[in-house]
Amino acid sequence: MIWRAEPKQAVFLSCEDDEVLYGGAAGGGKSDALLIFSIMRRVAIPSSRGLILRRTFPELERTLILRSHQLLTGRAKWQAQQKRWRFPNGSILEFGYCASEEDVYQYQGAEYEDICFDELTQFTEFQYTYLQSRLRTTKPGVKVLTRAATNPGGPGHLWVKSRFVDVGPPNTPYRDPESGLVRRYIPATIDDNSYIDRAAYERNLSALPEAERRALRYGDWDVFSGQYFREFRRDIHVIRPFDIPSWWRRFRSLDYGLDCTACYWWAVDQSGRCFVYRELYESGLNLSKAAQKIVDMTPAEERISYTVASPDLWNRRQETGQSGEEIMRQAGLTGLVKADHNRIPGWRALREYLEPYTDEQGVEVARLAIFENCVNLIRTLPALVHDTHNPEDVDDACEDHAPESIRYGVMSRPGRSVPEEEQKKRLRARQKLVRPASRITGY
Ligand SMILES: Nc1ncnc2c1ncn2[C@@H]1O[C@H](COP(=O)(O)OP(=O)(O)OP(=O)(O)O)[C@@H](O)[C@H]1O
Ligand SMILES: [Mg+2]
Repeated sequence: MIWRAEPKQAVFLSCEDDEVLYGGAAGGGKSDALLIFSIMRRVAIPSSRGLILRRTFPELERTLILRSHQLLTGRAKWQAQQKRWRFPNGSILEFGYCASEEDVYQYQGAEYEDICFDELTQFTEFQYTYLQSRLRTTKPGVKVLTRAATNPGGPGHLWVKSRFVDVGPPNTPYRDPESGLVRRYIPATIDDNSYIDRAAYERNLSALPEAERRALRYGDWDVFSGQYFREFRRDIHVIRPFDIPSWWRRFRSLDYGLDCTACYWWAVDQSGRCFVYRELYESGLNLSKAAQKIVDMTPAEERISYTVASPDLWNRRQETGQSGEEIMRQAGLTGLVKADHNRIPGWRALREYLEPYTDEQGVEVARLAIFENCVNLIRTLPALVHDTHNPEDVDDACEDHAPESIRYGVMSRPGRSVPEEEQKKRLRARQKLVRPASRITGY
């Protein structure tokens, strides 16, 4: 067969995790990758069965079935009635659809070694999990697998995002604590598919409104209407962790609450760009436990200039007469400073930090960058929505612990770091100033 995998498709095809979502953006070669995945499994596992699904039959016919004829004619036998290919080794590749919730029961008695969902956000979570229950095999050594491909957007946007995208960094296995199954999200965009007429594709996309265009072009899961921080973009604001130079200024921001403690560790480079590099996001921590945890999570060699925290920590508690700040200090967390918690100026300042610009190397960046391990911040910051009564503010029904913490950090006006050489020079200059003075006074 004349089909050569693009590099991202090759990664997808060789992945052995239980559930894999491929794509994100339009035109990344998603549908082809699913088809080839199923064909490869049919050939490799004699007498196996695979199911490929789309939400409706016309979509299925226009795309996957049509393409399967180009790939399989002469190599397997098409059984039109059953919408399936029978392979010479007895394997069967079947196409199906699930227009309504009840349609899943068509597959009640069936068993498959693998199921592929194309355009997963068109399906409901119930359809997906129900159909997964049809996965089983009696063949020794064969693993049952679920594969899916999709663009963002669509009725299933949120459940697909929280199942695959929000659980951790992309291209990384995530083990579901309940089922023990391993999932993975492999993002791909049109840049990963050299077989496509890119200019024509870009032209079609450019006609769309900005939010939809970004979702389709970049596979951006974070755009939707009512969104507060539209400027948030994973490709700009979320970065791979790197070794932070020891001379960069570091500080922490803390939004404490028994319902959720959100603490972030920041580092600032020479130009004033801020890197949020570590996250504590946990519920049920009392003040001293939260303080201890923050101290424990900070390696001894990290010098933290200050920890900016919500001002209510300075209120005295009636029962003990102690403030939250005192309790935390006694538990070892020193250097807490009161945050400026004016909401609207704070959100405005944060927006400035998120505003993309082009750096000296011609790369699009922003003053705030988040290490990809800070998953709760990455999940909740783009999910904030406008307050309908006061559109300048964030709706306080949102899960806003992480963004509030970040707002405190931004409002602490993090100064740029001074390179070591310059620090030494300044120190020498200071010493020079001090010496003659001491001689004059005779000390
Ligand atoms: N490895 C490949 N070899 C040859 N052609 C390919 C390959 N991968 C993708 N293509 C072709 O590129 C085009 C786009 O691929 P495909 O339809 O799989 O992308 P998609 O991500 O599903 O797009 P959409 O977002 O529109 O659904 C199709 O014509 C497809 O046949
Ligand atoms: Mg497709």
